[in-house]
Amino acid sequence: MTDLSQLQSEALAAVAATSSLPALEEVRVAYLGKKGKVTELMKTLGAMAPEERKAFGATVNQVKDTVSIAIDSRRAVLEQSAIAGRLQSEWLDISQPIRPERSGRIHPITQVIDEITAIFADLGFSVAEGPEIESDHYNFEALNFPAHHPARDMHDTFFLQGDGKNKTLLRTHTSPVQIRTMKNGKPPFRFIAPGKTFRCDSDMTHTPMFHQIEGFVLDKKIHMGHLKGTIEHLVNTFFEVKDVPVRFRPSFFPFTEPSAEVDIGCSRENGELKIGVGKDWLEVMGCGMIHPNVLKNCGIDPNEWQGFAFGLGVERFAMLKYGIPDLRTFFESDIRWLQHYGFGALDIPSLVRGISQ
Ligand code: DAH
Repeated sequence: MTDLSQLQSEALAAVAATSSLPALEEVRVAYLGKKGKVTELMKTLGAMAPEERKAFGATVNQVKDTVSIAIDSRRAVLEQSAIAGRLQSEWLDISQPIRPERSGRIHPITQVIDEITAIFADLGFSVAEGPEIESDHYNFEALNFPAHHPARDMHDTFFLQGDGKNKTLLRTHTSPVQIRTMKNGKPPFRFIAPGKTFRCDSDMTHTPMFHQIEGFVLDKKIHMGHLKGTIEHLVNTFFEVKDVPVRFRPSFFPFTEPSAEVDIGCSRENGELKIGVGKDWLEVMGCGMIHPNVLKNCGIDPNEWQGFAFGLGVERFAMLKYGIPDLRTFFESDIRWLQHYGFGALDIPSLVRGISQ
């Protein structure tokens, strides 16, 4: 018995002496672990006479409980002090002014995505996302691109591993987010999906990675008038010009019917591009009414639900609005470029303060 009470005091002293969680764990293993001192004593019970076993067993159990309670309460104390320690060491005075030579800038891509998100948030759209590594199914098949259809060749796809149904690729557009969002929810839908897209193409006007924003509305009585109104609102608000001329040109996309390309009015006099005035046209996005096959592929009845979709290139919108002449400079990470074309971190776009304040 003295052995046991000695063992107990020894264990309690060891627990009290620990100053970190790993040290406490070591003590626990030394006494209560599989080969711990208390556990070893429990193992001797089997060889004892019944009377002795009863008395000794009860005491060993008590020792075990006392030690484990002590360990638990020590653990709580150490966890608390670990948190307090982190709070102390990671403390940061966020009220200090930033050092001007170190102030970062918001990249025009982020700025344009934030601006367009603010415009659509105001119209009640949510923001949806999808993975950059996609399956052939989501990127093409479910969007009504039949196998071997020439429309697939319009996208110079980076294919990854896999064959047949398991084929993976870098998504060539944000349209697969339409499928993912429809499959994960129930209509009506009203969302935009900004994100990175990839095509095997690189020259003055193409980079292998670029950004798109997908727009998607599905409801019971949506028609092309809603599509036109939404896009007109977008270009007027984004370019901050009243009544920008907008033209819808018939086009083809497998996932919309009818499909259109949107041009906005501009002038290119003396090499200077002006949006919203003049006699020239500039193509800015693709759009259309959602193809019934796309809805069927997501288990949605096209006789009950209709809608529109559009897809725009973020870089293009940024170049047009902010007069950035060369696409490739977007991704060169030149700090002087970012100082010049970037935005202040606190100038968050909002319709109330002005979209690009
Ligand atoms: N996904 C098309 C592309 O990258 C763009 C697009 C066109 C998206 C029409 C749409 C749409 O949602 O309706 O070429």
